[in-house]
Amino acid sequence: MYLACRYAPVVAPKVVSEFWTESGRNVFDQLLRLNPLTARLGRVVCTGDPVTAPDQTLRTAVRDYWDSHTLGKQYVRDRSLTPGTPEFFAHIKPWMNPYKFPWIMERIEREAARLKGKHLLEIGCGMGFDSLEFLKRGVRVTATDLTPNAVALARKHFEIAGVRAEDVRVETVLSLSFPDATFDAVWANGVLHATGDTALAIRECRRVLKTGGRAIISHFYRKPSWMYWLNRYGRENIEYKEEDPPVNEFYTEREILAMFEGFVIEDVAREHHRALPVHRFGLKAALYHYGFRPLYNLVPAPIAKLLAYKLSVTAVKI
Ligand SMILES: C[S@@+](CC[C@H](N)C(=O)[O-])C[C@H]1O[C@@H](n2cnc3c(N)ncnc32)[C@H](O)[C@@H]1O
Repeated sequence: MYLACRYAPVVAPKVVSEFWTESGRNVFDQLLRLNPLTARLGRVVCTGDPVTAPDQTLRTAVRDYWDSHTLGKQYVRDRSLTPGTPEFFAHIKPWMNPYKFPWIMERIEREAARLKGKHLLEIGCGMGFDSLEFLKRGVRVTATDLTPNAVALARKHFEIAGVRAEDVRVETVLSLSFPDATFDAVWANGVLHATGDTALAIRECRRVLKTGGRAIISHFYRKPSWMYWLNRYGRENIEYKEEDPPVNEFYTEREILAMFEGFVIEDVAREHHRALPVHRFGLKAALYHYGFRPLYNLVPAPIAKLLAYKLSVTAVKI
C-alpha cells in the first residue's frame, strides 16, 4: 500500500500518456472500426511490410543467444539431469508449448490429420517437441533450427522417441537452403518474431511452400496486449527468469496480417488471453502470481480476448 501511494503519482501519468499515444490508438482503432477478425478471413493479403533486414551483428547476437538458451533448459529444476536424456525430456515436457497450451496441441492434431503423409517443414524446432507430435501422427517432417545445440537435442529427442524425421538440420529462416515449392506445410511456433526480420521470414516460408501449401504460424506477440504492457512496464521477461532474447517483436494485428503477402488468410486466432502460471520465483513473480494474475483473470472473456497476448495465423499460399 505504501509503495502504491508513493509511486502511483509518478508512474500513473507516464503509463496513461504512453497508453494513449501508442497502444491506445490501436485499441480504439479496433473498437471504433468494430473490426472482427473474421472479416479478414479468406481475403488475399497484398500489402507487404517493408522491414529493414537485420545486420550481421544482430543475426550473430540472435544465434548466440539461442545457442545457449535452447527453449526448455530454463525449466530444469533438477540440475543433475543431463540434457538430451529421456529423463531430461520427460522433466521439461509439461512446460513445453503443446502440453502447456492446449490450443497448440489441438492445432497440431487438426493440421496433422490434414497433412498425414505430406511433408512439413518446422522452422525453429528447438528440442523438437512439436515436430515429434507431427511425426507420431504420420506427417513427414524436416525439422530445422538456427542453432546446432537445438538441432543436436532434437535429433536425440526423435531417436529416444523412436521416430524418424526426413531431416534435422541447421537452417536460418531468413535464408532457407531449400528450393522453391518444396513443402506442403511450414510450421513455426514462437520463432518468427524473434528473428529480427519477421517479414523476410514469412517471405521465405512462402517461397519454400508449394502453391496451396499451408503456413501455420503459432504465434506472433500482439500489441496491445496484457503481456505487452507487463513486459514494457515490468521491464522484465515475465515468463521465466532468463536474459531476454536480442529480439522479441510485438506487432498489431494489422501489421501481422500485412506481412502475409501472396497468401490467403485461412484462420486467425487470438490466444493466451488469460494470465497463466509462470515458471518463476522472486518478488516480481510473486506480484504476478498473487496480485496481477487473479485480478486480471476476473476481466470478462470478450474483453480479455481483445488484449490476448498471442496471435496465430494459418495462411494458404496462392
Ligand atoms: C522460443 S524458441 C521456440 C522453440 C520451439 N519452436 C518450441 O516451441 O519449443 C525460438 C527458436 O527459434 C529459433 N530461431 C531464432 N531465429 C531463427 C532463425 N533465424 N531461423 C531459424 N530458427 C530461428 C531459436 O534457435 C529457437 O530454437
